[in-house]
Amino acid sequence: MRVVRTVADLRRTLEPDEPGRVVGLVPTMGAYHEGHLSLFRAARAECGLVVASLFVNPAQFGPGDDPEAYPRNEAADLERTAAAGVDVLFAPSVDELYPPGFQTWVEVEELSRPLEGEHRPGHFRGVATICLKLFNLVHPQLAYFGLKDAQQAAVVLQLVRDLNLELRVRLLPTVRDADGLALSSRNVFLSQQERTLALALPRALAAGAAADREGSDPVAAARAALNGLAPDYLATLDVDGRRVLAGAVRIGKTRLIDNVLLEGDLA
Ligand code: PAJ
Repeated sequence: MRVVRTVADLRRTLEPDEPGRVVGLVPTMGAYHEGHLSLFRAARAECGLVVASLFVNPAQFGPGDDPEAYPRNEAADLERTAAAGVDVLFAPSVDELYPPGFQTWVEVEELSRPLEGEHRPGHFRGVATICLKLFNLVHPQLAYFGLKDAQQAAVVLQLVRDLNLELRVRLLPTVRDADGLALSSRNVFLSQQERTLALALPRALAAGAAADREGSDPVAAARAALNGLAPDYLATLDVDGRRVLAGAVRIGKTRLIDNVLLEGDLA
């Protein structure tokens, strides 16, 4: 695996574009867990060249949400990407992607407003902009995202459609711990007691999905099953024709998001 730190080196590494070679891109912010690894493996299985990016994108962090506090473990991440068969790991500095004078932003307007957008102003502008930059730098035919971040997936799919980007987005299912908690880089911040409390979120979403199958209101059922935990939101969301029940809770200082698929599949 080649680790690349600059745009110039990335361009050199990816040239010349071999005819017929399928390039897959997995954008990430590092601190890898099995969720990330599932994306690397999916890319490895269908692409000739697998590029992963490791970049804690400051533009998608809001006030009071410090990118410096985001979990980082680059040494372990390098080992895990290499073991998962990633060919090129692009791990640039902030200045490399946002040099002084940077001032161009992409906004997926309507989809970015509710839910996460309401609680994290500017978040999806940062996500859409970095994803477009990465797509332009790597020129992948396939880009891999997890349904774990359902609204992010919806935003990226809309970005690809609206700007006529020549790539296909692959969405992969949420990887969970044995107890049902969705894997997240932020789970390391949870104390043992907070982790137990956090299980209310996947359980509530499962109750919502069960209610939906029986024709009742999934949001009301999930809210009732939240064990008194006050969510930032619980709502259904359309992800490119799929119906998803999504929720966010704060446990102590940690904010967790999760969702379940109500209708539609990922293939
Ligand atoms: P990050 O949180 O590192 O996630 C990278 C990718 O892994 C995303 O597509 C996310 O949905 C997926 N992922 C995270 N947890 C998962 C899980 N438990 N199961 C399956 N997939 C999971 O999402 C981002 O980074 C950033 O916003 C990024 C897209 C890289 C832009 O900066």
